[in-house]
Amino acid sequence: RLIPATLIPGDGIGPEITAATLKVLDALGAPFEWETRAAGMAAVEKHGDPIPAETLASIRRTRLALKGPLTTPVGGGYRSVNVQLRKEFQLYANVRPARTLLPGGRYDHVDIVLVRENTEGFYVGFEHYIPMGDDPQAAAVSSGIITREGCRRVAKFAFDYALKHGRRKLTIVHKANILKALTGLFLETVREVGAKYEGRIQIEDRIIDACAMQLVLDPGRFDLILTTNLFGDILSDLIAGLVGGLGLAPGANIGREAAIFEAVHGSAPDIAGQGIANPTALMLAAAMMLEHVQRDDLARRLRQAIETTLREDGVRTRDLGGTASTIEFADAVAHHLR
Ligand code: NAI
Ligand code: MG
Repeated sequence: RLIPATLIPGDGIGPEITAATLKVLDALGAPFEWETRAAGMAAVEKHGDPIPAETLASIRRTRLALKGPLTTPVGGGYRSVNVQLRKEFQLYANVRPARTLLPGGRYDHVDIVLVRENTEGFYVGFEHYIPMGDDPQAAAVSSGIITREGCRRVAKFAFDYALKHGRRKLTIVHKANILKALTGLFLETVREVGAKYEGRIQIEDRIIDACAMQLVLDPGRFDLILTTNLFGDILSDLIAGLVGGLGLAPGANIGREAAIFEAVHGSAPDIAGQGIANPTALMLAAAMMLEHVQRDDLARRLRQAIETTLREDGVRTRDLGGTASTIEFADAVAHHLR
């Protein structure tokens, strides 16, 4: 039985890493039936709209998507398509695992999952400028909004995820000493939800700045981190750095209405079109997608093939000090799956 899923190749290196990922999914015999749709800059060029209605309709129908990175213009232009997709489908939990795949990095056994609240906080787009005298932008205001219900649902997701994936400790990361309302409400609500998991999952909390330092000094003390939108955005790149960089970091955006899987990294315009991007992050996102549709068996095989290729074959793209092209890497992974 084939599972309908939406495929968004994306911008910059997106089409290259998507082609590589499809190649290994094909070798694996993954059960997806793809509907390819445009979003981002590619969609602006083709349809004059960064999120065409047919792309949204496809995701609404399939409730499942694999997405390449989308370029977001800095400052003006259109609002982030990623942020809009998260809002449109209420993808309130962003799951970003970081696990050591390659020996010889700073740390050998990092294994952390970060769950980021994905729809609220400082990403609600509640922003404006304040004019003074003849300067129309003399000051700027960006407000964050958090709701008790929003905190509850992501907390419940994180605790259930911890139980399902055998995680023992959940660290709530906040700045409730300064952002008392916004992150105080988050801390308090997550603790309330956590009380129902007492005895099964250990709960602790950390202030974001101290947490950043501890992550760099001693990542082994963290298991699952749950945090607000902006802090999660930053810390997930930090933990990606602990395990060899953005080329290895996958992410899942999960909500009641849909789930969208992607790499944590962006469209990498500096290397786009050269065929040298690392497709591992998107391949690992595809493995998360397989787990989401209850094909843990295929997810395990795919991860194993990626790990063997990186570790034993030593086939690596340039960002990891290797010489393989995007497609050579994909071929090497596919070789272990046939
Ligand atoms: P970026 O993640 O695209 O690139 C940062 C650095 O990492 C660059 O030097 C790039 O070459 C390198 N890099 C990233 N992915 C790589 C890969 N797979 N293999 C090898 N090297 C890789 O971040 P940047 O430059 O800040 O953003 C570029 C665009 O991507 C922006 O328009 C941004 O808004 C967008 N973006 C989109 C995301 C998404 O769709 N989920 C996430 C983050 C950024
Ligand atoms: Mg980010």
